[in-house]
Amino acid sequence: MNIILLGAQGSGKGTQAQLLKEKYNLIHVSTGDLLRETTDEKIKQQMKEGKLISDEQIIKLIKEKLSGEEGAILDGFPRTLRQAEALDEITHIDGVIELKLTDEEALKRLSGRKTCKNCKTVYGTENPSKKQGKCDKCTGELYQREDDKPEAIKKRLTAYHEETEPLIEYYKPRKIVHTVDASKSIKEIFANLCKIIEELA
Ligand code: AP5
Ligand code: MG
Repeated sequence: MNIILLGAQGSGKGTQAQLLKEKYNLIHVSTGDLLRETTDEKIKQQMKEGKLISDEQIIKLIKEKLSGEEGAILDGFPRTLRQAEALDEITHIDGVIELKLTDEEALKRLSGRKTCKNCKTVYGTENPSKKQGKCDKCTGELYQREDDKPEAIKKRLTAYHEETEPLIEYYKPRKIVHTVDASKSIKEIFANLCKIIEELA
């Protein structure tokens, strides 16, 4: 089963994908996490500024990642119409879940986000790590993402509304789009996502 998590920056795609992959035995594919491992200086700079990376580079990356996999939660991909069309040629999509959140709430959440350098676990004001600066799961060091500065966040939100949100209309005719209120607690959202996924199975 392949599920797309679609939502603005800070809507909780990464947070929920980590919980879902453990429950449903799916792989978590976050193009953002994959790109943050790159040594390519141009990509690093584009990310820092909150710009999207080229469709060609992303499609190549995702092809490699999905090859031979049975089911995945896609977090942060597709983000453009070109990416969505390319994905249709790679695999079948069972469900698209939109995590809906206001820009205001997104901005608030991102300024409080900390991520583990090692295992990528995400912490925030609702779910802080027990020991300050250290990951609960692997004791890795926590850091603040370079693109979580107000200027870059604004650019990322604009890119979401202009390029990614229209994908909801792209998938709508297939009747696979589900919208979840992402302003609720992590636990409540997770319960709603589980319900949707179990109905899809
Ligand atoms: P990416 O890493 O995907 O970042 P993003 O889209 O900006 O999304 P975020 O990771 O910021 O948000 P999230 O929804 O995962 O929220 P999270 O769970 O962390 O992409 C980064 C960059 O890579 C892009 O800007 C672009 O340059 C490039 N890129 C990636 N994919 C690309 C593509 N396909 N094409 C082109 N370029 C691409 O939660 C956020 C915070 O809120 C955390 O602190 C968390 O603890 C907290 N939180 C979560 N849920 C709740 C809740 N319910 N209540 C309270 N707090 C909560
Ligand atoms: Mg994320």
